[in-house]
Amino acid sequence: MAKIIAIYPGSFDPPTNGHLDLIERGSNIFDELIVAILRNSEKTPLFSVGERRAMLEAMTGQIRNVRVDTFDGLTVDYAARVNAGAVLRGIRALSDYEYELQMALMNRKLRPELETVFMMPAEQYSYLSSRMVREVAQLGGSVQGLVPEMVEQRLREKLDPAIKLQNVRKQKVKRA
Ligand code: PNS
Repeated sequence: MAKIIAIYPGSFDPPTNGHLDLIERGSNIFDELIVAILRNSEKTPLFSVGERRAMLEAMTGQIRNVRVDTFDGLTVDYAARVNAGAVLRGIRALSDYEYELQMALMNRKLRPELETVFMMPAEQYSYLSSRMVREVAQLGGSVQGLVPEMVEQRLREKLDPAIKLQNVRKQKVKRA
């Protein structure tokens, strides 16, 4: 039987435990899953594409059939380039449905042979979004349990550069 490759496109700014949950679920049903970070997003991101890629690679390094990539332009064109037959997207609540339906139908209009597959993340992540994680972290709240520890650390460094400086100094002392 032919191998089914799926892409999981998104902004991932930052990647959350909800994304990771969906990646794990997707990796169980597809032969190969490519987590694809959109490069030409109009939004001003908190993390650069390189930073997001590094975080996602660290989060998914243990999952053998998952790899991380970046793309710009249309999702359907990227899917064609990597021979993907499916687009994976998460639906958390009814409020996601309208936007996701529009996107899936637009993608179907552009490339009818590409299927969109919706999966639901675990209930404990059903309210979680990158936008809320950014907002809570920027306003000094805790995002513990909502993102992997490494992402929590990157958020701390991003929002308080003094922490990054301290860590660089610690690393230098360790190496000396
Ligand atoms: O994580 P996000 O921001 O909800 O992801 C949205 C994304 C990247 C999947 C969507 O914006 C997208 O596919 N952009 C690429 C441009 C495109 O193909 N547009 C037409 C379909 S809406």
